Amino acid sequence: MNSRAGTGAVSVPGSKVTVVPPADAQDDEPFAVTSCPGGPLLVRGDFEIQDGEGNEVPKNRETVALCRCAGSRIKPWCDGTHKLLRRAAEN
Ligand code: FES
Repeated sequence: MNSRAGTGAVSVPGSKVTVVPPADAQDDEPFAVTSCPGGPLLVRGDFEIQDGEGNEVPKNRETVALCRCAGSRIKPWCDGTHKLLRRAAEN
């Protein structure tokens, strides 16, 4: 897995959202992003999620898994559908 600290906006095209630091962020690197190969982006720390129109998407966890495959039925969250899509592509 590939991780990096977040200092700016991170676009997640599969779920049509952007991860941004909160306006009042105190830390230089308020959140961290981990890319799961073939799966979601894991985001942890102090961040906000915005939809395509800049509206905040409510979250109830400090760590979230954001869909990158565009197949989730509960976007922007990963629901594991990426595993089914990968299996279908292999067959
Ligand atoms: S990354 Fe899309 S469902 Fe998991």
